[in-house]
Amino acid sequence: MSSVTQLLKQAQDEIVAADNQASLDKVRVKYLGKKGSLTSYLKELGSLPSDKRAEAGKAINDAKNSLMSEIKLRQSELQADSIASKLLLDKLDVSLPGRGQKPGRVHPITRTLQRITDIFTSAGFETRIGPEIEDDYYNFTALNIPENHPARAMHDTFYLESGELLRTHTSPVQIRAMQNEGAPIRLIAPGRVYRCDSDLTHTPMFTQIEGLAVGADISFANLKAVLYEFVSNFFEREIELRFRPAYFPFTEPSAEVDIRAESGEWLEILGCGMVHPNVLRNVDIDSEKFRGYAFGMGVDRLAMLRYGVDDLRLFFENDLPFLAQFS
Ligand code: FA5
Ligand code: MG
Repeated sequence: MSSVTQLLKQAQDEIVAADNQASLDKVRVKYLGKKGSLTSYLKELGSLPSDKRAEAGKAINDAKNSLMSEIKLRQSELQADSIASKLLLDKLDVSLPGRGQKPGRVHPITRTLQRITDIFTSAGFETRIGPEIEDDYYNFTALNIPENHPARAMHDTFYLESGELLRTHTSPVQIRAMQNEGAPIRLIAPGRVYRCDSDLTHTPMFTQIEGLAVGADISFANLKAVLYEFVSNFFEREIELRFRPAYFPFTEPSAEVDIRAESGEWLEILGCGMVHPNVLRNVDIDSEKFRGYAFGMGVDRLAMLRYGVDDLRLFFENDLPFLAQFS
């Protein structure tokens, strides 16, 4: 009995002295493990005279239970200590200046598109959206570009296996809108278009914004006025424009418009003209009563000019340092 008491006392001292989880574990194994000293006492019970067994068994079990609960207690003390010291190390000084945030920003092409849309909206144009996957009829035929017409080859079209195509311009939205709404009508149609094309000023995917106004007395002079007004609003200064005679099957007469870049070079920004009577006929609008103008602008080109970027492809490379300049 006295050696149990002594063993208990010794174990208690070692528990208190254990200053980490590993040494506490050692103490537990030393006394309570399979070959532990207290365990071996239990094994020896059988060799005691039967009248002593009960008392000795109880003493050993009591000692065992009290060691187990003391170990448990010490264990939670050690755990609390280690959390406290971690907290001390990890201390966060909330009064320190922040590390800086990098919020996302609107892509320069999207910003440009929003800016253009705002200008036309405030001039009374309504926005219409059309599908990027089109069929031949809307992208070409209805726009007075019949099959085998050389203008189809000029468009470098991406065809899909279904026979449909990626629209090569936003002009098909003119057709859809006039079909649905008739005349008079005044709209813009922003969106992505696709052509098999790539160099400094051409990318395979780019953005156009279409404009269309059909009414009883609309003239080429109205078209010019709207475009001059737009351009001076967009660039916030007087801008040199150049109207070049051009050919589009869906307008007559037609023009392409260039803008003088800061480098002094001319850059084509849009095509335009008076809506061809065949196009009005295709959407059942009386071409004797109504006339209209239309234009299709290269939004990416306008972004290049506004931001002074000389390679259009830079906009689509997702180079964050480049894009971060446009905030
Ligand atoms: C057209 O797409 C006609 N649908 C425009 C139009 C509409 C004319 C209504 C008359 C009436 P064009 O292919 O020229 O025209 O393209 C129009 C503008 O889109 C160009 O002036 C240019 O600014 C831009 N653009 C054309 N191809 C690309 C390209 N690959 N990458 C970037 N911009 C382009
Ligand atoms: Mg052109």
